[in-house]
Amino acid sequence: MELPALTKLYYTIGETAKIFQVNPSLIRFWESEFKELKLKKNNRGNRLFTPKDIQTFNKIYTLIKEKGYTLEGAKKELKSKQIKMETTEENNLSVEEIVTKLEQIKQRLLNLKNQQLIICLLIISGSLQLVSCSKDKTPDKIDTELYALATNQNNNVWYKFNNSLLPKSSGSGHPQSALRTRYNSIAQSVLDANGKIIQGSSFPENSLVVKELYDGTKLDRYAILLKRSNDAYADANGWVWGYINADGTVASSAIDKGKSCISCHSQTGNIDYMLMNKFYP
Ligand code: HEC
Repeated sequence: MELPALTKLYYTIGETAKIFQVNPSLIRFWESEFKELKLKKNNRGNRLFTPKDIQTFNKIYTLIKEKGYTLEGAKKELKSKQIKMETTEENNLSVEEIVTKLEQIKQRLLNLKNQQLIICLLIISGSLQLVSCSKDKTPDKIDTELYALATNQNNNVWYKFNNSLLPKSSGSGHPQSALRTRYNSIAQSVLDANGKIIQGSSFPENSLVVKELYDGTKLDRYAILLKRSNDAYADANGWVWGYINADGTVASSAIDKGKSCISCHSQTGNIDYMLMNKFYP
């Protein structure tokens, strides 16, 4: 039935009975039959109907009195509509209120999405930073090539044709305690019969000179000189400078064009930058 405006907080059973023009005993009976109808009682044990209770009662009233449902039929019908009732009528929300609620939920989801987006961006930028940090340690192409050349000992000969480790010289800036130096087949062309560099030599293109640096007897690092004048990283004299650890990590990239090496190697008494003759005569 069409309910009057329910302006009060609570209604007594008498008032409710009056609204529906029914006997209070019917209300009590339906209360015992329909679990949807859960009534509060005051301290004196009198039932209290909230507007919501009256709406629920109206549901039952409509089904049984107006639509002619049996008690059982009405119970089933109410049960099937329960979800709907919970979300709409029990909460007493108008369509506008529901739309507002949904808008709020949408906004909350959007905020969450934005937050996640920001977190994602932070993670991405974080890993990019990691990538760019680790990039410093990953060999550049030129360093990888120098490393491959330096570790290949095919047809190499040692300075003074002797492979023994030499204690580091007074002129060395390297921290390692020992060293030995070898030359590839092209660089050998400027060695004399004793395996020393011929005075006034200029190393031919593709000469490779590798100084192995040792901590005690453990190979630690390669200092590499490759003559390749047209290389993008060659210095004014056509040398590419490599400084690569035994494990392949780069100590100082050839991209720097021997920035930290050249001034020391330019000292008097060198031969085309080479210092072995001077310090191990
Ligand atoms: C403080 C001076 C100094 C600096 C800096 C220096 N070197 Fe040397 N280098 C020497 C000396 C001295 C020798 C002779 C062997 C020795 O005593 O270690 C030498 C030898 C070499 C050799 C063996 C060939 C030869 O006869 O010179 C190579 C290759 C080499 N250095 C490469 C490098 C590279 C690459 C760098 C830069 C990353 C570098 N050096 C920086 C002093 C230096």
